[in-house]
Amino acid sequence: MCADVHRVEDQAGRDGRGSEQHRLEGCDAGTLVETFEHVDPNRLSDARKFDAEGHLHASRMNIEFEELAYRRTPLGELILRRRTEPALGVEVFEVKLGDAFLMSSLFTAGEIALANLGLAGLGSGPLDVVVGGLGLGYTARAVLGHPAVRSLLVVEALRDVIDWHRRGLVPLGAGLSADRRCEFLNGDFFALVDSPGIDSRDLGRRFHAILVDIDHSPRQVLHPSHAALYGREGLRRLAAHLHPGGVFALWSNDPPDQDFRDALAEVFAQCDAHIVTFRNPLQDRDAANTIYAARTATASCESGSGTRASRLDSS
Ligand SMILES: C[S@@+](CC[C@H](N)C(=O)[O-])C[C@H]1O[C@@H](n2cnc3c(N)ncnc32)[C@H](O)[C@@H]1O
Repeated sequence: MCADVHRVEDQAGRDGRGSEQHRLEGCDAGTLVETFEHVDPNRLSDARKFDAEGHLHASRMNIEFEELAYRRTPLGELILRRRTEPALGVEVFEVKLGDAFLMSSLFTAGEIALANLGLAGLGSGPLDVVVGGLGLGYTARAVLGHPAVRSLLVVEALRDVIDWHRRGLVPLGAGLSADRRCEFLNGDFFALVDSPGIDSRDLGRRFHAILVDIDHSPRQVLHPSHAALYGREGLRRLAAHLHPGGVFALWSNDPPDQDFRDALAEVFAQCDAHIVTFRNPLQDRDAANTIYAARTATASCESGSGTRASRLDSS
């Protein structure tokens, strides 16, 4: 059965993502992997100068923000920018794709809670973890903050986002890139879940935790191809990549969803929905994310529960 809804107050308060800024509606993640690789310098604004590899060399700056990276894509302009939030006097990193804010460093409580709630109760390790969706790296960094973690594989659809981290353009990039436990994998997380193995070098590899922060919520997905993961069959396919007793955790911008919790309860031995609340100082109100954390049966339970964490053929 899916257990209680837990409320986690963010005492530091003030780290959490505002719902308005986070998600990209209608973006084609499958297309993202294939199309974000090339810059056409001839079609770029004169205000930006690029080196031979297409990296932004001289950024545009105006009084509101500094543009750190730019790429024109079929889905709109992908922009990494830095600005000082005047109301708070803090430096903010933001990612825009087209007119939408993909993510912001101003609100990160939910991302960090995803790691901490996902890894809670997994013991002293060594743990092998997957994060779906690199973003600005707050979930990944929180994972690596757990000494029990032996390895972290971060699956990210946008090569540019990985590149920003490797080049130290984003605040957490240098630290993540230097951590020998952390590896970036450019790919479509959903396709990898449906494949025989998330790690193509070792298809039989299983993980102790898979933590996902890609879609707005199980109901509001970036692309229709993502939706299947959140149904019973998709969850079974995901669970097949976990060790017995392993954890699937998911960030959501919506309140706990009973249908989704029912699906989790059918596939996993245990599941919880945690509400993470935080202050949005820009709007002077509280905001909340939901973190789902579901666990496969342990080895001893598995023999009794049969198919709960078994792999389904993706054919
Ligand atoms: C909201 S951000 C993740 C934020 C992250 N938890 C953090 O701490 O900064 C979502 C990320 O998922 C990536 N993404 C979108 N579709 C994807 C897919 N199909 N597979 C893997 N990553 C994807 C986006 O490019 C973006 O970097």
